[in-house]
Amino acid sequence: MQLQNDLLLRAAKGEKVERTPVWLMRQAGRILPQYRAVRESVSGFIELAQTPELAAEVTIQPVELLGVDAAIIFSDILVIPEAMGLPYEMVEKRGPWFPQTVQSEADLKKLRIADGANDLSYVIKAIEITKKELAGRVPLIGFAGAPWTIFAYMIEGSGSKTFSKARAMLYTQPEFSHRLLQMITNSTINYLKAQIQAGADLVQIFDSWAGILGPKQYQEFSLKYIAQICDAINQVPKTVFAKGAFFAREEMAKLNCETIGLDWNMGIAESRKLIGSTKTLQGNLDPAALYGNPDQVREATQDMMQQFKGTRHIANLGHGVYPDIDPEMVKVFIETVKKY
Ligand code: CP3
Repeated sequence: MQLQNDLLLRAAKGEKVERTPVWLMRQAGRILPQYRAVRESVSGFIELAQTPELAAEVTIQPVELLGVDAAIIFSDILVIPEAMGLPYEMVEKRGPWFPQTVQSEADLKKLRIADGANDLSYVIKAIEITKKELAGRVPLIGFAGAPWTIFAYMIEGSGSKTFSKARAMLYTQPEFSHRLLQMITNSTINYLKAQIQAGADLVQIFDSWAGILGPKQYQEFSLKYIAQICDAINQVPKTVFAKGAFFAREEMAKLNCETIGLDWNMGIAESRKLIGSTKTLQGNLDPAALYGNPDQVREATQDMMQQFKGTRHIANLGHGVYPDIDPEMVKVFIETVKKY
């Protein structure tokens, strides 16, 4: 189906755009009261994510209610460990939790490489329904976690400030770590291909825990696998968002992807210099800027737009929108980008 608004795809590819496209990381399922209403009709996040009709509904909400230039499929990065044989739970107010983790050779043996279309058929179905219901209004973004970030949860078993167990594993069992990372990578490639087959127009890789590795380890245990994913996916534009990886920007410029996401610690001019002009940059307003009043949000957004002006850019925040942000301030952010 022909897209009525393909600004995101053109901006990603570096083609001419009338205005900068805008969407928000974590726009589906954090801030909208309409999301909470749907969420309360089911037992929890996992049931919602596994019910394709409802996942499609909350995916489309931000398009209709906020006016973003893209939808992102409602799911989570942790569906991959589950599809590999390591199920997770979402603990209310605390986040993800894995009853079992990966520590030993025996644990690794119990895992399998996920087959996207079968093991994650509920996400694939949700993408198909979403595409039908969007009817070409905006592109649909598919996504997955980067292998390092997924590895960190599979070893640690939950969120953590330091992920010290996962980082310890890289030092104490590097060969074991590489084997698990390769299994995650193969699963992720299968999964992203199935998402694209079902209709995803662009895919984003979230490396949320990039910033806790040093540059050398980041190269060896993360970028290497992200590069494999980028090289394996050629059907749609790819975005790589590595939170905190300011030290890896020159290396990331070599990835076979169209767009690099910036967090708000990364200077815009400096990032452009390090990454060069052949990639689109996405981001990077501090999500906390949306706690301001409308004038403050407008000013912060215009300041960001000014710094990206005339270069390949997709407007976004520097990380996911915080759950307690007023949707009205999100609208001010979006309107300011659109009018710029
Ligand atoms: O962008 C979107 O809105 C699409 C949906 C989406 C979710 N998670 C839904 C979700 C996306 C893209 C993600 C990605 C994700 N999940 C990341 C990478 C992006 C980032 O923020 O760095 C990470 C690290 C996770 C892991 C995860 N899932 C955590 C740490 C948590 C708990 C904190 C939180 O965000 O609420 C989740 C749960 C989660 N993922 C919820 C939603 C809507 C909330 C669950 C609930 O409703 O109870």
